[in-house]
Amino acid sequence: MCIMTVFIYAHPAVAQTAAQAWLKYHPLGKPLTVPTRVSTLGQSMLEQTAALELRRGLLSLSGGAPLEQGPNIILLGTVQEMRARQPKTTVPSLGPDEFLITARHGDLAREIDIVGGNDRAILYGAFALLRNLAQGIDMSKADIREHPAMPVRWVDEWDNADGSIERGYAGRSIFFDNGHVRDDLAPVAEYARLLASVGINACNVNNVNNAAVFLTPQMLQGIARIAEAMRPYGVRVALSVDIASPQKIGGLSTYDPLDPAVKTWWSTKVNEIYALIPDFAGFTVKADSEGQPGPASFGRTPADAANTLATALAPHSGVVLYRAFVYNHHADWRDPKADRARAAYDIFHPLDGKFAPNVIIQTKEGPIDFQVREPVSPLFGGLTQTSQAMEVQITQEYTGQQRHLVYLAPMWKQVLDFDMRVGGASTPVREIVAGKSFHRTLGGMIGVAGIGQQAWLGSPLALANLYAFGRLAWNPDLTPEQIADEWTRQTISNNPAVVRVVTKMLMQSWPAYESYTGPLGLQTLTDITGSHYGPNIESSENNGWGQWHRANHNGLGMDRTVATGTGYVGQYSPDVAKVYESAATTPDDLLLFFHHVPYTWKLHDGKTVIQYLYDSHYDGAAQAAHFVDDWESLKGRIDPELYADMLPRLQYQAGHAIVWRDAVTQFFLKLSGIPDDRGRAGHYPNRLEAETARLTGYKVIEVNPWEDASGGKAVTCHDTTSVVPDKPEKDYGASAPAPTCAAEWTYNAQPGRFNIAVQYFDLQGGVAKFSLEINGQTPTPDASWSADATLPTSHLHADNSTRHIVHNVGLKPGDKIRIEGTPGGTDPAALDYIEILPATPSQ
Ligand code: GCU
Repeated sequence: MCIMTVFIYAHPAVAQTAAQAWLKYHPLGKPLTVPTRVSTLGQSMLEQTAALELRRGLLSLSGGAPLEQGPNIILLGTVQEMRARQPKTTVPSLGPDEFLITARHGDLAREIDIVGGNDRAILYGAFALLRNLAQGIDMSKADIREHPAMPVRWVDEWDNADGSIERGYAGRSIFFDNGHVRDDLAPVAEYARLLASVGINACNVNNVNNAAVFLTPQMLQGIARIAEAMRPYGVRVALSVDIASPQKIGGLSTYDPLDPAVKTWWSTKVNEIYALIPDFAGFTVKADSEGQPGPASFGRTPADAANTLATALAPHSGVVLYRAFVYNHHADWRDPKADRARAAYDIFHPLDGKFAPNVIIQTKEGPIDFQVREPVSPLFGGLTQTSQAMEVQITQEYTGQQRHLVYLAPMWKQVLDFDMRVGGASTPVREIVAGKSFHRTLGGMIGVAGIGQQAWLGSPLALANLYAFGRLAWNPDLTPEQIADEWTRQTISNNPAVVRVVTKMLMQSWPAYESYTGPLGLQTLTDITGSHYGPNIESSENNGWGQWHRANHNGLGMDRTVATGTGYVGQYSPDVAKVYESAATTPDDLLLFFHHVPYTWKLHDGKTVIQYLYDSHYDGAAQAAHFVDDWESLKGRIDPELYADMLPRLQYQAGHAIVWRDAVTQFFLKLSGIPDDRGRAGHYPNRLEAETARLTGYKVIEVNPWEDASGGKAVTCHDTTSVVPDKPEKDYGASAPAPTCAAEWTYNAQPGRFNIAVQYFDLQGGVAKFSLEINGQTPTPDASWSADATLPTSHLHADNSTRHIVHNVGLKPGDKIRIEGTPGGTDPAALDYIEILPATPSQ
């Protein structure tokens, strides 16, 4: 029955497949280095999945050559099964999920044994063999023994019952739709294949917010179907729960975790779940956080709530992942001692030792919220008698939402390698969360994945993050470069030149994003009360969310020192605190997270903070432009579909990096009053602003926030004079014929051939049209285009500021450059500026 399930879900007609990610098994174009006859010693479901996966992978890697009939063989079995078959051979004892791959050469036959400490380990061994083969590695003398560093290797999905996904950037849910589990769970099984291939052993399928509905009997029936789809791959299902469920769906008058009726309700509910899903993994809890109910309403602690759930789960060996993401989002921004970064440690450290053994405290990597750079959460060093897991975000909420290439493994690796120096001894985070440092049996890594129906993560290169998450949770000693190399070989090509370029792009992408969004520990300078995407520097200030950077006319940064600031630094061990307490010893990349300094503060290389802000934004945007060149260098050497899919994404990123660069540099130029010593910030010599053009129909408006448009102004083709967030624009839909507006400039610089970049705002709600003319003539075929991207935010904003480049246009003094814009729906064909750039041919 279960094997049947595998066959059905593995059918090639399935629309969304693991082959859209890294399980491609491209033909190697040379003989395989292993036998292709696969046999199992046992009958378990996972052993059968392993055999099936191997046959399928070998067939594909060999380019479809028929699999061998014998005597050479790949043999799969558990330790016990192998020992029973080969009494004379020593088969070592293996731990859970640990596997061994060994090659044997008899006189007549070649054999590769994949031995597992349990059934799932055999599957992991099969995937490991395929991973190596797919990279072109010779496995004829294989001798590999691996075990996962951490027992808990989960992905969390923030999917809602209606099929939307909180912070998801790849379309709708593969699990839910319209309040129910979807009928078609084929993509769920394919997802489980992907997860298992990198050793992920559980998937929490629903959002940490608004979770109560998931415990209703009808929903649990559906969750059981999800569990069934994932089971052949050893991926167990977990659920986020709302701590108020006993009241919200259970009909009780309270959800006080210490109330006996509440405890009984949880035990009964957990028994109901296990009756349907015997291998259910456990619960994730977000409580007393961002409006979610929690134990604080009854004067109870997170330990009280976690332990009530843990008691219910313990008889079934289930676990509770209780999130340390608990903070007051109505903090007083006028109080210089208030500090959101302190919250997790202040709340959870005093509870150390009070949690049941099957509770794991799940802590985001940094103390704020998945920013482009934060220090490591001090809580990792503050819980020595409690199991811990580190939560990272695979979905790129604050790191470009998959529209920007940002490979996150280097960031995670820095956190994993960070030495908390607990008790003055070496205690790197990777050893703490693995349970090693403080002798815990539980612990691990959780990745908030955000996969959806659009090719899993939307953008093809973003999948390197999902892959890297699994690989690091399995083995945090791997380097981000190694992982990028492996992923590229399996996904794109084994051609060394291609691998070099893609790996380089991946490795450069996080530093680039950091330098054009939020360097020096400023965190991502994004719209924190809106989309979390484009720049909105002041949105962090003057509100209770606590993502403050405290920038003013004199300086910037948060003073978190013990001596004069919020005292946050004191939450680290003395060895670490000593480094962060002084601005002189704090690493530059975290300076402004820990210290408030004047703009003229000198960094370690002598450069001032303000000049660094200018330089890093210009350098970062230049780097984003290089990614386009890098990718173009792969033309003809990689799959043309992939090439064509990725190129416009990188071109878009290069344009949006300029939007970021200009927003942040204009903003700090104005605030600090200190010019860029290289004369770039605020000076755009090749730019013709829309507000200075001869306008027909277009109206000049102030953009809010001002730094999101060049010079703070833009023009729109609607008869509004101000744009108010979320106020619907006039709709030029089918009923109202849209006007066409125009902006015209006279060119008066050097004659020559140029690219003309047109910077405009592509709003949702319709498709505006643009065209460019020179002296009344359309100069090139790419001079007309539609504003049909899907970008965040319904008003003019850096979120939706984008550019179209018209290539290789001849210009001479006196030429009339004219842009015509025609609104579509509620998109007002708004324009910011045009920029005359050196010509390059169009791609
Ligand atoms: C971020 C994110 C929220 C999410 C929260 C969490 O703040 O923006 O959408 O609910 O993290 O981790 O719970």
